[in-house]
Order: sequence, then structure tokens, then C-alpha cells
Amino acid sequence: MNKIPSISLRGKNVPKSAIRKLIPFAKDAEKRGIKVHKLNIGQPDVETPQEFWDAVKTFKEKVLAYSPSEGRPEFIDAMIKYYAGHNINFKSDEIITIVGGIEGVLLTLFAVANPGDEIITPEPYYSNYVGITAMTDLKFVPITTTAEKGYHLPSAAEIESKITDKTRAILIASPGNPTGCVYTKEEMEMVAGIAIKHGIFVISDEVYREFAYNGEPVTSIMHIKGVEQHAILIDSMSKRYSACGARLGCIISHNKDFIDSVRAYATVRLSAPTLDQIGIAACINTPQSYFDKVKEDYKNRRDIVVDTMNGIKDVICPVPGGAFYAMVKIKGVDTEEFAKWLLTDFSFESETVLVAPGAGFYATPGLGRDEIRIAYIMNTAVMKRSMTVLAKAIEQYRKTH
Ligand SMILES: Cc1ncc(COP(=O)(O)O)c(C=O)c1O
Repeated sequence: MNKIPSISLRGKNVPKSAIRKLIPFAKDAEKRGIKVHKLNIGQPDVETPQEFWDAVKTFKEKVLAYSPSEGRPEFIDAMIKYYAGHNINFKSDEIITIVGGIEGVLLTLFAVANPGDEIITPEPYYSNYVGITAMTDLKFVPITTTAEKGYHLPSAAEIESKITDKTRAILIASPGNPTGCVYTKEEMEMVAGIAIKHGIFVISDEVYREFAYNGEPVTSIMHIKGVEQHAILIDSMSKRYSACGARLGCIISHNKDFIDSVRAYATVRLSAPTLDQIGIAACINTPQSYFDKVKEDYKNRRDIVVDTMNGIKDVICPVPGGAFYAMVKIKGVDTEEFAKWLLTDFSFESETVLVAPGAGFYATPGLGRDEIRIAYIMNTAVMKRSMTVLAKAIEQYRKTH
């Protein structure tokens, strides 16, 4: 008899992406001739720097070989130079090249925690964190932050109340996804202080470092004194150089045991992509004007979202200090239903929007049910139009529900 094997319990329980689950409805709407403005994922329309393409096109080696597991020397040198410009200094054996920031989170969790251990993260959080903790058999422990407080961290006492003898790390992202919240230096110091006091790691996901709009400095965990042995920096080239398809990032830490462990994991998965390292290494020569322009564009896009949404009665959109997302609280609206309805029942002049319902960014049941996340990744003309369409939708939904 042909007994079909069953997959693992872990495999069955991998959380589905909150961000992508509405895509089939968007496809149906498109089949009906409706233009869907896709503001659900962080894939910007910004061009990757020319330096990337030039370096890849002129690559001279005759074999597309594996790279060293910890990364190609030119990539590592470029990173050391880049971080020195951000007042972050480390040695070449304190950085490991990774296949995107998300692999960085995965390898980091493998290195810092045992199955059943706990990882504390502020919610709303980047939803893939939950998938990664599930893959690593860890328990995900949320600390709730609120729109009313701009998604800033609660007090140290509140965070510490979540710490148990199984807690291995606090995982933070600043500037954050989905909130755009940029933690102050004091908040970073508070997290560092908690890590030191309780002997746990701080995993600091800083993939949006370049994108802070209010002139405030972005404090890295690497800027905080005394936390060197606890601090793990995770970074990515996806957003910095609008190179999401490059699948490239790095992990930096002064903790030798940790870096040795991550290096061993990196060896097991062989290497990060060679051509992408060549291209990104060349991006170190990207002129500052590129970043200034990109930042200005994102700021304009953000302002369109914030101004339109806050102009609607009973809608709160805290001004995101950074990244390219905004959480929007639509009071009295069930956003799981609303986000689906936008695609199945609504259109304004044959257009609608695809947004991510808020609940998928929270672990605490019931939270986020009246929030959506908007990714302001399209040019200002598209953002303006999308916000007009979304405003009409909110008005119509409230009248009919
Ligand atoms: C906070 C955060 N961390 C990590 C990532 C993953 O980035 P990468 O493309 O480098 O895997 C994302 C992607 O959106 C993100 O928002």
C-alpha cells in the first residue's frame, strides 16, 4: 500500500504571511478590470544604484564560484567602511555575510536560543519574526506598544515583567516595521540596560537605518557603551540600496562565541550570493545625493499618507519617524474584513488598494483589528491617488457596515 508520508508538526504550523494572504483576492479584482494599488509589501519602486549594475556587468571571473561562508573580502571591506561612517567600528572577523536580514534573524536565533526558549519583541512587529521563531521552536513573547504612544517602548519595568528564566533575547527593530517608530537613544539605552541586567542578548534589526525623516539620529545598538557582549546587529542591503532581490545582509557582533557559532551555521549553508556581494560592494561609492533624493521622496510619500489619513474623522495615523510604513488606526472598523472588502466589493473609478490588516503584526489576540499597515513604496502620484481611493473606501465602508 502506498502510505503518503505526513509532514512535520512544525511544517504544518508555519504561520501564514499576514501580508500576502489577500493576494488571491487582488488577482481576482484585477481579472475584473480593477486597478489595484499594492501597498501591502515593502518592495519599493526606487531604482537600485547604477554602481551595482556596473559592477555586476563588468565582473571578470570565469567561474561563478561559492563565496567564503563569512563573505567576500571586498564586501566585508565595504561594510567596514560603510559602518565607520556611522560610527560603528568592528574587526573583519566580527561580521558574517548573510542571505538577507531575515536569514540573519534565523541564524541568530539558532545561535542564541534552545528550543522552548523565549524571545521578547515589541508588537506590532515585522510579521516574519513569528515565522522565524516558529522555525526555531522558540516561544515568541510580545510587549505591546500603542498608536497613542507612537509605538514607543513601554517602561523598563513593563519589559522586565516579561523576562523569565527562559528568556534569551530581546529582538527590536528601529526604525521599525510596521510602525516606522525610531527609538530614541534613551530607549536603546534602556533595552541595553535590561539585557545587561538579565544576562540576555539584544538582537537589533537595523535594516531601515537610512530612512529617518525628522532629523533625529538613528541610534544603533552598537552605539551603546557596555552592551558589547550582548549586542547583535542585523542589517540588510534590501532597503538601503533598494536591492531586495540581492538577498544580502550582515550580522555584526563583538561577542566571539556568538560570531563563531553564526560562522559555523554560515558554513553549513555554504555562502551568500557572489554577484550580489560584488554589486553591493561597489555601492559603497554611491553618491550621498542618491540617498538624499531617496529619503526626500519617501518623506513626501509619508506625508501624503499621514496627512490624508489624519484628515479623516476617527482615523489615527501616528507620524512614522522612519522606514516606509505607516500604521493607520481606523476606529470602529474590523480591518480584516475591510481589507478583504476593498478587493471583493469596493472600487472607486475602477481602482482599489491592497493593504495589510493590522492583526497579523500582533501576537496578542484581538489587537490590531482596527489597524492597517500601509507601505508607502510607490511614487507620490500613485500614493496620492491611492490615499484618495482609500479615503473614499473608509467613508463608504462606514456607511454600509
Ligand atoms: C524589520 C525587517 N527586518 C528584516 C527584513 C528582511 O529583509 P531582507 O530582505 O534583508 O531579508 C525586513 C523586510 O521587510 C524588515 O522589514
